[in-house]
This record gives sequence, structure tokens and C-alpha cells, in this order.
Amino acid sequence: MLQLSNYQFFDLAPVLRTMREEVLEGLLAPQKTLSPKYFYDERGSRLFDEITHLPEYYPTRTETALFETHSAEIAQHFSGDVTLIEYGSGSSRKIRALLEAMRPAAYVPLDISGEHLEASAKTLQADYDWLDIYAVCADYSQEIKLPEAIPLNQPMAFFPGSSIGNFTPEGAQAFLVRARALMGDQGKLLIGIDRKKDKAVLELAYNDAAGVTAAFNLNVLTHLNRELDGNFELDGFAHRAIYNEQVGSIQMFLQSLKPQQVTLAGEQIEFAVGEQIHTENSFKYDPEQFAELAAKSGWAQELHLTDAQDYFSVFLLSAA
Ligand code: AVI
Repeated sequence: MLQLSNYQFFDLAPVLRTMREEVLEGLLAPQKTLSPKYFYDERGSRLFDEITHLPEYYPTRTETALFETHSAEIAQHFSGDVTLIEYGSGSSRKIRALLEAMRPAAYVPLDISGEHLEASAKTLQADYDWLDIYAVCADYSQEIKLPEAIPLNQPMAFFPGSSIGNFTPEGAQAFLVRARALMGDQGKLLIGIDRKKDKAVLELAYNDAAGVTAAFNLNVLTHLNRELDGNFELDGFAHRAIYNEQVGSIQMFLQSLKPQQVTLAGEQIEFAVGEQIHTENSFKYDPEQFAELAAKSGWAQELHLTDAQDYFSVFLLSAA
């Protein structure tokens, strides 16, 4: 643990223990799948940052505008020493408007990519020297126990970007239940939800002209090659992203361009031409549908914000 004046870093050692097992199970199944958490090595985190600036990728700028416009209104729902806990903090950009409006006692960025987390937390600390920062490297798709040093009198979880969409609806409910337990009876949750909308708008957001989303998707293979001693050839696979209207989800795949055999962690994996690895779901919700899911998970709605195009929703929830 590295400790400066008001900065602490906790490594809850996510992923690596189970990565081999989890990845092989997914790739040896009849429908090959990979968890989207493996996108986020150093380069993957940087590519995702790039995605958030793309003209086609509307979620980030729409949500950021909502936070900027409504930060004072959000802050009115709090008083006293608040601890902000951000799930999947990445580069900790969206939190800035809230930090300024809310002046919390502590900020807990929580992310799976340790290096990126440390770099972002330190940049933030340089800009907000009044703020206690407890950076926690952890995998929020699992149960998390926060270190006792972190004050949790008035916790507010922050889960922006519609990252909840990367869980299945069942997984989303399980996440909401875990967050409710971690935040406790005084807890609140500020969460961003990408809404159902026109298929063309959605598909463009995941098939950008500059090819950044394709590079982000393919980078998972580079990550596996490095961590699990693999020999995936990136030019043997193509990026695909389609909106499945029936389930309400963008589905991303890596499609094999030829029959091929890949070695990974000492195992042989066969690919037929056209065979796909399902790498990500990004579920979209109607606000009523999401409010119902939240209610089933122990959360009551305090505030619902949306943009003029009804593209994106932000909910402030409190423990029911
Ligand atoms: C992190 N997550 C909310 C993004 C999304 O839109 O589902 C990840 C992403 N995948 C491709 N583009 C962005």
C-alpha cells in the first residue's frame, strides 16, 4: 500500500487468480464468449477513453452534460460528510462536476485497471488537494468488501456511463443488490442508463468511422496473448456490433475470418470461418423498465434526469 498525505491505494487483487479458468471456460464453450472486463488492460482503458470522445458515441457527452447542468440539484439531496464511491472510475473525468458541486469528504475510485486507476487518482489529487482519495483496485462484477479505513457514514455510489448495461438484466439486478448492501441504509446511488432508441443511432455508436471501437474490441486478444501466453493473430478476426432489438442490447463479437487454431494457456482452441466470440452486451433500458429493476433491488427513486432527445437517463436512488 502506497500512502501519501490524503491518498491511499488498495489492491484487492482482482482477476488474475481466475483469469485462466474463466477465459478458457468461455472460449471452449459452444458459443465462445469473453467477459468485457478483459477489455480493460492499459491500452484498452486508453482506447475506451478515446471512444468516449468519438462523434458517434453520444452516451458520454450526453451524460456529462446532464451532470454539469444538474450538479447543484443533485448536491441538494445531500448534507454533511459524503463519501463518493465511483464504480469503474477509469480516468475520473465525470466525477469532477460532482466533486465541485458536492465537496465530499472522500472519494473512492474503484477500478479493475490498477495502473490507470493510480495515474487518474493522482491527477485528481493534484487538482483537488482538499479531497481524501482512497483508490481501490477491484472487480465490481464480484462482491467487494471495502477497507475499514474508508469512511462510510453517508455513502453515495456513482455508476455512470451506462456501464450497468454491460451486465445482463439478471446481472444488473445482482449488481444493484450488491451496491445496496455495500452502501447500507444511508446509501444513495447515482447511475447513468443508456436508453432504447433508433437502431441506426445505436449501431453507429459501436461502429465508428475511425475504427476505435474495432481496435478496442480486438485489443482483448492482445491482452489474452500477453497474460495467457496466447498466439491470437489480430488480422484473423473482425469487429462486429449489432443491435438485437428483441433483447434490447448491442452485441459485440469478434468474428473469425478463416478456419484457425489458436493456442492459449496451453490449450488448443478451434475456430471455424465465420465463428464468433461474443465479447460484450450493452443493454439499453426504458426508464420505467430500469426503475422497476431498481425497486426490485431495494432502491427508491429520488430524481430522474434526461436530455432533450431522450437518449440517456440519470437516476438518483436512495436505499428503500
Ligand atoms: C463501458 N461501457 C458502458 C461501454 C458501452 O457502451 O457498453 C463499453 C463500450 N463498448 C464499446 N463501446 C463502448
